[in-house]
Amino acid sequence: MILLLLVAYLLGSIPSGLWIGHYFFHKNLRDFGSGNIGTTNTFRILGKRAGTVVFVMDLLKGTLATVLPLMFGIETISPALFGLFAVLGHTFSIFNHFQGGKAVATAAGMLLGYSPWFVLLLAFVFFITFYLTSMVSFASVLCAGVAAILVLILPAFHLIFTSYDWLFTSIVLFLACFIIIRHRENITRIRNKSENIFNFGLNITH
Ligand code: G3P
Repeated sequence: MILLLLVAYLLGSIPSGLWIGHYFFHKNLRDFGSGNIGTTNTFRILGKRAGTVVFVMDLLKGTLATVLPLMFGIETISPALFGLFAVLGHTFSIFNHFQGGKAVATAAGMLLGYSPWFVLLLAFVFFITFYLTSMVSFASVLCAGVAAILVLILPAFHLIFTSYDWLFTSIVLFLACFIIIRHRENITRIRNKSENIFNFGLNITH
């Protein structure tokens, strides 16, 4: 099990945005835009195609890590633990001086591996918020908060989650706080009304 947790961490550590920027565009994402190496900044700096690839890769890191115990037939307290290790790899990558992204896509991937319906619900919240604000960061932070509330409420009503998994609940609560903290600079910009507005024409305005 410990070996598999290490695999999950290494999987999450793959800095897709950084490597795609470096090998295909000869650009270091950390030097452009928000300086983040995640999906949003990849869209912003490297374009739609690269942004989509990075999103899918970062998402799948979380999903794949979460289904690892199932694939190897290993008994575990909760598969979410493996997803958590992928998220930790993504944010504290061994291939990137223990730095990384803001955890949103990989955490969503973990949730996808655990409960696709839960992700669908959060995706709905995300897209409505994004449609209304044009701010990925705002939608991400709101989704983190909503996920924390729903993970406490839904199992009580036997909705989406048929059984109560205390470790999954704890991990979601932890990741929600973690994501909000990782967005502290974005939150400051939102409060100052200077956060980047994201449009699909890929221009950024302040
Ligand atoms: O997932 C990251 C997103 O919420 C914000 O990205 O590049 O605008 O800081 P960025």
